[in-house]
Amino acid sequence: MHVLHVVGARPNFMKVAPVMRALSERNQVCQSLVHTGQHYDANMSDVFFSQLDIPAPDVNLEVGSGSHARQTAEIMSRLEPVLLEHKPDIVLVYGDVNSTLAAALVCSKLLIPVGHVEAGLRSFDRSMPEEVNRIVTDRLADLLFTPSEDGDHNLQSEGVEATKIHRVGNAMIDSLIRLLPSAIASPNDGLPDQYALVTLHRPSNVDDSATLRSIIESLLEVNAHLNVVFPVHPRTRQRMTMLGTSVTNLHLLEPLPYIEFLALQRRATVVITDSGGIQEETTYLGVPCLTLRDNTERPVTVNLGTNVLVGKNMDKLRCELTKILEGKSKLGMIPPLWDGQAGERIAEILC
Ligand code: UD1
Repeated sequence: MHVLHVVGARPNFMKVAPVMRALSERNQVCQSLVHTGQHYDANMSDVFFSQLDIPAPDVNLEVGSGSHARQTAEIMSRLEPVLLEHKPDIVLVYGDVNSTLAAALVCSKLLIPVGHVEAGLRSFDRSMPEEVNRIVTDRLADLLFTPSEDGDHNLQSEGVEATKIHRVGNAMIDSLIRLLPSAIASPNDGLPDQYALVTLHRPSNVDDSATLRSIIESLLEVNAHLNVVFPVHPRTRQRMTMLGTSVTNLHLLEPLPYIEFLALQRRATVVITDSGGIQEETTYLGVPCLTLRDNTERPVTVNLGTNVLVGKNMDKLRCELTKILEGKSKLGMIPPLWDGQAGERIAEILC
């Protein structure tokens, strides 16, 4: 069986790694890897391949950045000849980025079966590009690998046949569990004992100047009590430069490699974020997480984990932060099947 994986953006390198590892132990399987090039900076891509021990891509489509339509279309037109040449038996796509949707569309027209890892998640907010990518990818996929029970329910209520749905657990957490010992061993590099770790990149938070300004002002306020450590996504860096607000008091960093970022999360007093994956990682680590979004496609992190949605309500951010600093943070538990074996389960089902 020839399994071809398509990835392109930072959050999905953590998901492909455990699946490729599990499949590499089965001798009836041959694998190839296509990188779309959606993320192309060394610190957004290459460093993840080396730390996660992912084989070098067989093909890099080098699509780079662009509008959603352009990026998706470029991936589609460059991927089609690759699939015609490689003739895989199945293509695995990951998460909810433009690369995921583009690959699923090309496969469906070429009648190549598609497996979607991280299927079934829904924010029910179609203004998020990722939500559109999730819905369409799940509609087209033949095998839907869900991380949690809510994913199964969402798919069933959209009419997906139960035989296509496989609850396998969280592949991103497989990588976390494997590399946590390296994160624990990594040096502290002079960071304060207590700090708020911040990440921010959602278009809804960073593309609108008034929203971004209000978030930055709140972070400056937080910084008066608790040091803010902020590895800045390239998209956010561009917007902050355009905005011109002074952020000199914040501890700004370049995007970090996986192990270093995991170490920062594990030691953080609180994580303030709008990322999807970080809501999950903090839940696994038991670190309080305040999410700057009104909704989440990962409700299990709120219902079982340490996540609290604060949206754009900066008063709520202050109030939740005070609780955390007073030692009254929400206690969470690790959701079922977030056990480091999701990649194994996927390999078992495929074989
Ligand atoms: C994408 C995903 C998002 C995911 C995020 C993680 C979609 C629709 N969005 O958003 O779901 O959470 O990745 O990072 O697919 N850029 C660089 N270097 C890079 C990559 C991007 O400088 O290596 C800059 C470019 O100027 C680009 C901007 O960042 O225009 C945004 O990149 P893009 O991949 O389009 O979307 P993300 O915001 O990263």
